[in-house]
Amino acid sequence: MLADLGAAALRLLDPETAHTLALRALAMGMGPAHSAPSPPRLKTSIAGLALANPLGLAAGFDKNAQALNGLSRMGFGFIEAGTVTPKAQEGNARPRLFRLAEDGAVINRMGFNNGGLHVFLDNIRLHRSGAIIGANIGANKDSKDRVEDYAVGYARVHPWADYVTVNVSSPNTPGLRGLQDKGALETLLARLGGVRSGFAGARKPLFLKIAPDLDGTAIDDIATLALAHGLDGLIISNTTIARPESLASRYKGETGGLSGDPLFGLSTKILLLFAQRLMGQMCLIGVGGVRDAATALAKVKAGASAVQLYSALALQGPALIPALLQELDARLAAEGFATLDEAIGADAR
Ligand SMILES: Cc1cc2nc3c(=O)[nH]c(=O)nc-3n(C[C@H](O)[C@H](O)[C@H](O)COP(=O)(O)O)c2cc1C
Repeated sequence: MLADLGAAALRLLDPETAHTLALRALAMGMGPAHSAPSPPRLKTSIAGLALANPLGLAAGFDKNAQALNGLSRMGFGFIEAGTVTPKAQEGNARPRLFRLAEDGAVINRMGFNNGGLHVFLDNIRLHRSGAIIGANIGANKDSKDRVEDYAVGYARVHPWADYVTVNVSSPNTPGLRGLQDKGALETLLARLGGVRSGFAGARKPLFLKIAPDLDGTAIDDIATLALAHGLDGLIISNTTIARPESLASRYKGETGGLSGDPLFGLSTKILLLFAQRLMGQMCLIGVGGVRDAATALAKVKAGASAVQLYSALALQGPALIPALLQELDARLAAEGFATLDEAIGADAR
């Protein structure tokens, strides 16, 4: 209850200040503790990593990996820290984070504000708990060689993370999403393949996080390259640059990536298209508008082995996590699924 009161108080502040305070509190061990173990039915795995439940925290919430312990006590099955760039950077001018409460949405144009690899690695070394931790890597805005930024990031985070995500889908670093184009993606994945081969036996899963704003050709190209370069999975999706007609909030015209409820349909559609191409060949993680058990289960049925959320946590507070897990267990049981795994891709076949 205290945690909910805290979350309600935080919602009265400007969104970025609220976020900074919440992270600090979590880092100091003042966050909520969800002590009940996950229902056994919810066990799953992503690229061979066993998860107690399929609900992950999406990247961007803990960019510097400063609150991993506090976050893992909230009940998540896994946590993705970052995006981290090689060098520290300020990000865009404030305000750069907007709550679209009426729309159940968020718009952000943070621009990879983070303390750089040095701070990230110090934190991850210090604060690693038993939780499954992913490291999401990106490129500096002013980098002369973005491919090299990813190669450096990959090599540095690899020893400390359970998996690594290559984020080529943030709309807030100009030109970054161009790395999803066939030629550029080929170059990037080939370079990462070279770095990866150095890790041989100890190689961790490598995921690519993509945008929801992709046409059929781009989907085909990404699926083909992901297979050719031996990626372990895709994270689908980042925020959208689209602005659905339905948006009502006064912030709907702000520049940046839109997330939350209005992203659910688009990101789930793209997930399903990838699942129809790739199911059984690599793991898919569904992100975008997960806010309750129904939306989480829809992603699983579309082909996701696990899901992640961000906006719903910011809008609803941490009580959402245990409630969602209980309800997901009940829904699976009601629909006759003995395990979560049985439901994965039920709509994609
Ligand atoms: C404020 C904010 C910052 C974000 N920062 C990152 C980031 O650094 N790296 C990344 O891969 N995704 C980032 N995202 C995208 C989320 O990880 C997620 O893909 C997206 O918000 C859709 O999920 P949601 O609808 O549950 O929020 C950010 C999202 C928000 C709202």
